[in-house]
Amino acid sequence: MQTKKNKTLGEFIIENQGSFQYSSGELSKLINAIRLAAKVVNHEVNKAGLVDILGTAGDVNIQGENQQKLDVLANDKFIQTLKNREIVCGIASEEEDDFIKINSHDERHQNKYVVLIDPLDGSSNIDVNVSVGTIFSIYRRVTPVGTPVTLEDFLQPGNNQVAAGYIVYGTSTMLVYTTGDGVNGFTLNPAIGTFYLSHPNMQFPETGKIYSVNEGNYVHFSQGVKDYIKYCQEEGKGRPYTSRYIGSLVSDFHRNMIKGGIYMYPKSSKASDGKLRLLYECNPMAFIAEQANGKASNGTKPILEIIPTELHQRVPFFCGSKKMVEKVETFINEKK
Ligand code: AHG
Ligand code: MN
Ligand code: MN
Repeated sequence: MQTKKNKTLGEFIIENQGSFQYSSGELSKLINAIRLAAKVVNHEVNKAGLVDILGTAGDVNIQGENQQKLDVLANDKFIQTLKNREIVCGIASEEEDDFIKINSHDERHQNKYVVLIDPLDGSSNIDVNVSVGTIFSIYRRVTPVGTPVTLEDFLQPGNNQVAAGYIVYGTSTMLVYTTGDGVNGFTLNPAIGTFYLSHPNMQFPETGKIYSVNEGNYVHFSQGVKDYIKYCQEEGKGRPYTSRYIGSLVSDFHRNMIKGGIYMYPKSSKASDGKLRLLYECNPMAFIAEQANGKASNGTKPILEIIPTELHQRVPFFCGSKKMVEKVETFINEKK
């Protein structure tokens, strides 16, 4: 019997290098570095429950690294890997107050990409063995190569993204990414540490039956959002919908992309801009969504068109199947 041979991520990166708009191999190297960091973090996430056990058995490294909180550890691993390989000129992370300049004092380094990351997404799920993720976003710098990166290089609208992706550390570990030419998903075979192309050309169904929102915040939502939630729950064409909320954006998004659905983190009377961060969470997920025939909005305009003003800026977020995002926008606009 013939067995189907799936492409590895390494093979896929090499094959697709030529299709990047400004192909010099630099972006391929960068995605390779992310692939490596993802495997390291995956290993840490998988043994998270063992940390205390190993700790008391004395099986801890000298720096006591495995006692670190996993989101700090993931942050360190991604930053270290990207720094060591000298392939980016700057990194901004949800876990760092300010952006990091890399080798930018040294004009021999001609790196042109900056990376923005949410190293561990869904941190409230770490201690309870529920899926978490990593989100990354890549831009070309706007200031000249060979000079130190500035804030301007990071505060670009999402439409300028060159690549974006996420890793979901779930029942299996997957890396899903886009370089602006569709979305592809790769599943890790943990026995040999290789990612295989398992989900080529991922697409959001046009519409779906799942809505994902923290309904504990319901009373604080605007009337438009409340009305949309009621609409999801009413009898109607294909309704009521079903509610699914993991509390890890990466996992909720991943499920909705496969099954059809909408993820919402609206503004509320407690948080005037919602909770999610534009640069580390919303922009990369919005880019992936649009590349997969989905849609992402702050309720009134496309996420990717927002001009960022601060590194850690938050925005309301509605993302998923196109028709569902359009519907919630209608409800919001009616009540404006
Ligand atoms: P992070 O762990 O990076 O801070 O992000 C958590 C985010 C997102 O992943 C998730 O969907 C949302 O926060 C959950 O927030 P609530 O607990 O307020 O619902
Ligand atoms: Mn997050
Ligand atoms: Mn995080």
